[in-house]
Amino acid sequence: MDCLFLKVTSPACYVCTIMMRLNLKVILFVIFSLGIFVTLSLWAKCGEPFIGRHLYSQGWDGKKSHSIQRLQEQDDSYVGETADRGNNDLQGYEEIDCHINGEYSVNCRKEGGEIYVPFSFLHKYFEVYGKLATYDGYERFEWSHSYSKVYIPKGKYDPKGVFMYFENYNVEVRDRVKCVSAIDGVPVSTQWESQGYYYPTQIAQFGLAHYSKNLTEPEPRRKTLEDGDRVMAAWQAQNSASFSRVLDQSIDSYVLKFTSPEAVSPAGISLKLDHVLDFVLSLDLKLKGNGSFTVTLQSREKREVFHLHYICSDLLISAEERHVYHGMGCRGEWRRLTRDLLVDLQKGFLHLGRKRRPLSRSKIKVTGFTLRGSGYLDNLTLSSSEHMAQFYDAARWFVTRQDPGGGWPVPVRRRGATAKAADLVPDWYSAMAQGHAASVLARAHHHSGASDPRYLEAALRGLGPFHVPSENGGVLAKFMGVHPWYEEYPTQPPSFVLNGFIYALLGLYDLKTVAPPGSPGAEEAGKLWSQGMASLKSLLMLFDTGSGSVYDLRHFTVGQAPNLARWDYHATHVNQLLLLATIDPDPILSTTAERWMGYMSGKRASHN
Ligand SMILES: *[C@@H]1O[C@H](CO)[C@@H](O)[C@H](O)[C@H]1NC(C)=O
Ligand SMILES: *[C@@H]1O[C@H](CO)[C@@H](O)[C@H](O)[C@H]1NC(C)=O
Ligand SMILES: *[C@@H]1O[C@H](CO)[C@@H](O)[C@H](O)[C@H]1NC(C)=O
Repeated sequence: MDCLFLKVTSPACYVCTIMMRLNLKVILFVIFSLGIFVTLSLWAKCGEPFIGRHLYSQGWDGKKSHSIQRLQEQDDSYVGETADRGNNDLQGYEEIDCHINGEYSVNCRKEGGEIYVPFSFLHKYFEVYGKLATYDGYERFEWSHSYSKVYIPKGKYDPKGVFMYFENYNVEVRDRVKCVSAIDGVPVSTQWESQGYYYPTQIAQFGLAHYSKNLTEPEPRRKTLEDGDRVMAAWQAQNSASFSRVLDQSIDSYVLKFTSPEAVSPAGISLKLDHVLDFVLSLDLKLKGNGSFTVTLQSREKREVFHLHYICSDLLISAEERHVYHGMGCRGEWRRLTRDLLVDLQKGFLHLGRKRRPLSRSKIKVTGFTLRGSGYLDNLTLSSSEHMAQFYDAARWFVTRQDPGGGWPVPVRRRGATAKAADLVPDWYSAMAQGHAASVLARAHHHSGASDPRYLEAALRGLGPFHVPSENGGVLAKFMGVHPWYEEYPTQPPSFVLNGFIYALLGLYDLKTVAPPGSPGAEEAGKLWSQGMASLKSLLMLFDTGSGSVYDLRHFTVGQAPNLARWDYHATHVNQLLLLATIDPDPILSTTAERWMGYMSGKRASHN
């Protein structure tokens, strides 16, 4: 609150006007013109320190609190910069207290019949956003009602194509991702448990993002460093280490064979590199006993050196100073490993608790690669991206980690949203995870040309929990005992989360489309899809507040205040409805999406 009052006593930008009723039109006109003139000259003055800066701008993934905090930081500097300017421009204004609902007061300004209220107050009071922007040679104040973005679908939704707008997602760099496991190649979440665990929803989003990027990004650059025959690197063997190239008959390919001491130091066999811009490393590796490898990175300006070690261990990640360790398991069989080195380095910093920004691509280079222990290596490559390899890491995870009930259990406790709702105990299923998994597996089935039956089989087994009531460990709830609903969080009483339900529906649609037409699997997925769509259409209006949407229906099931969707979730609702509207012509989807989009620019349902 101190901060608020500090701001409102300063000559901040006064933009909102409250018109007082005056009968004489002429006086009104004169005052109004004067008001506009003074406001414009004030804007012109107070904007200078900000040109091009965004006070309240928001990224897709951002949280509201960030924007408010950013506002405060910027506003404070603004107060400082303008404090000694004097109030020469304020002639004609008087200070006046605005009493807010008789509860507290705010410093306003009065000029004739016009009252000016500080925007910093309006921002907090109405949760509206604003920024100064200069273009076309003059500056203006841009007011916006919400901070999120709507993605208009480019065409009919295709279960073999981009998933929603996930090509914009970068799951692994989020702070709630502890690291990408070097054993499985998928992200490890810390959302509800700081130790880290596999969260199937997050793993699916990682997979879907990479699949979507593969379809939307330019072709990757790839440089092979060693493949045993066509490309041979200039390895240097230290001390007792040695290497040779041999034919591995099991895969009919020449590979590099190496032998050296196991310990992290002294060095085994190594390569000196000077490689810029491409930071996705991939290699095929087979180890005898305890082997490891290390990639050395160097910042181009400060010449700091960082070491990324991949060791034979089930450790997730550890770090000390400039050394980051990822456990990759002990690879006694050929396994392919794909690592985004910049992500691995950033997770090392995160592990050390350093608020250090990830090093940008242009500021760092790869300077070395070292193998230790004994084993074989093939296809050592640096690329700008390896989206399909990362997608298949996620798809494989879903194939190998499914339980006999067809579920991918979430292994952590999730606190009940309210005192009246019980916690979800570890190993609960989420309809969103099950649906997302179907979206991943349907795409893997399609992309691999149906050559591996395991993807489709796993996706179909994943329908199991959709038939089991949520009170019996499944994900199926019934609204008022009638309308089936697939629960993102299978709470007691049910919560009816909207976005998770729609993601589950998309998974069902993907599966019903990709499974062979007429097969029992296609039919089962099709039935679940149509009964879910019927519920969505029946219940959609319950999520509409007239000025936004609610995240779930807990106000109804638990009898508490509605859980209003913050703008990024509201935008997700809109995006999902727009997408569904491309595959289902029922106007309730498109008209609701349109009205909800209007809420994002301040439109409201009219009152009686
Ligand atoms: C996408 O995947 C195909 C293989 O399906 C590959 O040939 C292509 O290079 C990839 N493109 C990108 C941008 O990842
Ligand atoms: C392999 O060696 C690394 C250190 O070089 C060590 O941290 C790891 O525990 C060892 N793994 C096994 C299975 O002995
Ligand atoms: C390396 O890549 C080649 C070409 O894709 C492949 O034939 C070979 O099996 C790969 N090596 C290993 C060990 O998987």
